[in-house]
Amino acid sequence: MASILPLLAGLSLLFAVATPIRDVTDACSSEVKDFQHLNGSGIHLTLHHPRSPCSPAPLPADLPFSAVLAHDDARIASLAARLAKTPSSRPTSLDGASSSSSTATTATAAAVDESLASVPLNPGTSVGVGNYVTRMGLGTPATSYVMVVDTGSSLTWLQCSPCLVSCHRQSGPVFNPKSSSSYASVSCSASQCDALSAATLNPSACSSSNVCIYQASYGDSSFSVGYLSKDTVTLGTSSMANFYYGCGQDNEGLFGRAAGLIGLARNKLSLLYQLAPKLGYSFSYCLPTSSSSGYLSIGAYNPGQYSYTPMVSSSLDDSLYFIKLTGITVAGKPLAVSSSAYTSLPTIIDSGTVITRLPTAVYSALSKAVAAAMKGTPRASAFSILDTCFKGQAAQLRAPAVDMAFAGGAALKLAARNLLVDVDSATTCLAFAPARSAAIIGNTQQQTFSVVYDVKSSKIGFAAGGCS
Ligand SMILES: *[C@@H]1O[C@H](CO)[C@@H](O)[C@H](O)[C@H]1NC(C)=O
Repeated sequence: MASILPLLAGLSLLFAVATPIRDVTDACSSEVKDFQHLNGSGIHLTLHHPRSPCSPAPLPADLPFSAVLAHDDARIASLAARLAKTPSSRPTSLDGASSSSSTATTATAAAVDESLASVPLNPGTSVGVGNYVTRMGLGTPATSYVMVVDTGSSLTWLQCSPCLVSCHRQSGPVFNPKSSSSYASVSCSASQCDALSAATLNPSACSSSNVCIYQASYGDSSFSVGYLSKDTVTLGTSSMANFYYGCGQDNEGLFGRAAGLIGLARNKLSLLYQLAPKLGYSFSYCLPTSSSSGYLSIGAYNPGQYSYTPMVSSSLDDSLYFIKLTGITVAGKPLAVSSSAYTSLPTIIDSGTVITRLPTAVYSALSKAVAAAMKGTPRASAFSILDTCFKGQAAQLRAPAVDMAFAGGAALKLAARNLLVDVDSATTCLAFAPARSAAIIGNTQQQTFSVVYDVKSSKIGFAAGGCS
């Protein structure tokens, strides 16, 4: 992170080259319209696993799985800090910016930088390694960007030329506002600027030229800071004018060369809420494995085949998706824990967490029951945060049927690939771990199910066979 800011940064000559919007027909994917559960009036985008060779911005091929797990633990830690409302100190700033909540002096860039450095940034949710990837078009003419999709955060942002402080390497050219005829920055007096503090959990700031500055932070020192902006967004073949998003001038921590992030949490600045007046307050996805492709669909869905559980509201956070886990069976037998053990912690469903976290008592009982059901399989030693490991690969081993049940009758009947994760070519582990302050339904368990987030009816649905 640069500490001295280029107040008069020269304009970069990094003009975005117009590339055609690629939507659901990426060469490496099956077509979204072949999947069941999709409704023709929604917007459908291809979704890629972060480690899929078909991802337009794959993670480094040599990224060890232990690094994925370490990052996953950082996401959990930042979520825990967020729920506990503990601010982290992540100083950052931008061209002559003064924070709306501090008494900044604007004498020099360095002084401003120091004053902003005293504004504590709240932890969001660490992003990148576990998050799925899609494409989004922006500007007029539209150019296409690789974006991570995150149900744990609200504001959509992407790296923006001239990258006043810092841009990481991304796939394709960086968005250049000057090459979009429909781009506009948002002033500090706009209501959307006020809405930033709820959307990012950080105060907004105001540049010397009265442009609203957002600060999105994700724990694990990932962040994006830049100008709140609006422009035409293009998703698949649909466009919407005046979409509010962050034009990032200081960006760090996204892996895999994505340009930015699409926020799908429950907040009026999220992509979901901004599109909802046209499309309806719901989205659905099927998270693929690393060797298949799935979808993100915004708007209408076919309600028929889902089993539903109510969204639960929590005083801890009003933008995350809380649900109620009520029971787990292994080979048809309930775990040996009281039913209150399941609700001893709040439960969040999250697209970007890789490994499901369960209350400690529930986790221990699950680990024991799975180990007992697989007692013929040689055990392997623990791997990172995973302590129930076996010699072999998930696809070759006989894993017990494990069902997760939620309030209202929704269920996830886990296949072996949802239960066990291969950590190297000779070892597979139970893809669950003990929770800290919240239980999390992670993405390994959601893979190949269709999951619908119906915010209007305040319910979440699961259906098998979404994208496998
Ligand atoms: C598709 O969505 C529309 C609009 O919400 C709805 O009226 C229709 O019933 C849906 N189609 C199916 C097959 O569910």
